[in-house]
Amino acid sequence: MVRYSKLPFRHLVSLYDVHITHTPMILAKEFSRSAAARAGDFSTSAAERGAFWMSEGCASLSGKKRRRLVRGALIAQFAASDPKHMADATELIAPWVDGVDLNCGCPQSWAYSEHVGSWLLRNPDRVRDIVRATKDRVGWAFPVSVKIRIDEKLEKTEQLVQTAIHAGASHITVHGRNRHQASTQPVNLPGISFAVEAAKGEVPVVANGDAWSLPEVVKIRNETGAQGVMSARGLLANPALFSGYTSTPPSAIAQFVDISLNYGGLPFALFHRHVAYMLEDRFERAEKTYFNVLTSHAGVLDFLERRGLELGG
Ligand SMILES: Cc1cc2nc3c(=O)[nH]c(=O)nc-3n(C[C@H](O)[C@H](O)[C@H](O)COP(=O)(O)O)c2cc1C
Repeated sequence: MVRYSKLPFRHLVSLYDVHITHTPMILAKEFSRSAAARAGDFSTSAAERGAFWMSEGCASLSGKKRRRLVRGALIAQFAASDPKHMADATELIAPWVDGVDLNCGCPQSWAYSEHVGSWLLRNPDRVRDIVRATKDRVGWAFPVSVKIRIDEKLEKTEQLVQTAIHAGASHITVHGRNRHQASTQPVNLPGISFAVEAAKGEVPVVANGDAWSLPEVVKIRNETGAQGVMSARGLLANPALFSGYTSTPPSAIAQFVDISLNYGGLPFALFHRHVAYMLEDRFERAEKTYFNVLTSHAGVLDFLERRGLELGG
């Protein structure tokens, strides 16, 4: 998520059953040509991925499912239109991440006019060239995924999914809205299901849109047949969503404070926004007004302590 899914927030959600995290969308062209852009856009740490017990599909002869400890994965997401820019940026970031993702969903007008983001939805040949150039550069074993939106003309979605897979995409994430739909409109689960079928089981598909709680995650997975579910706004509001919490547990807020301080602190506006999202459903109106006008880290910490949160544990 642009602005939000930086290192401290990714580290936080990895403590609460988020198996795959993504950087905010990074402009591949700038990233590949400017050291300053690289320093501003990306940082990571050896500790930011979680470790998770995963059950394997079939029960063994003893009737027990085998469990495996797997490490979480970090994916860098790029906006690119030129295959060379994506390949260059991927080559630079590959040692630090487990895969890269091509954004084909950003609906903003600047992105469309730069031929990145949702412009790619109707330009599958460009998606093919970008995926291929990236794989050719860093090796075919390196995961390159693609994040798309649904097209109003479903045959376009089918064509895009199949083109991306044949170009070498390792998985596809499908945001179940079209490029003209705001996030306030309900997600189109049959549309995601269509994309899952279009992938024909050749690669995993991740369903995205309106996952605000664990029961919703399960419902989305069951209704679409997708192999995974991605949440964006749901995780901002409740980073512990995938662990089954119904709202942000106080421990997660305390951990967020610690983690962000350990990484050297977040800019105040971003820190403040994150905490506001996590507290949103607990605020009373007067408290919210008070919180919104706080202007310092110290003010936020003081507010949290007065609300009974134990910090610095
Ligand atoms: C603040 C914010 C930043 C986002 N940034 C990105 C981004 O960098 N890359 C991307 O693919 N989608 C981005 N999105 C879209 C989300 O990934 C997601 O597709 C969309 O919000 C629908 O999922 P949700 O209903 O779980 O929020 C962003 C969404 C929000 C709210």
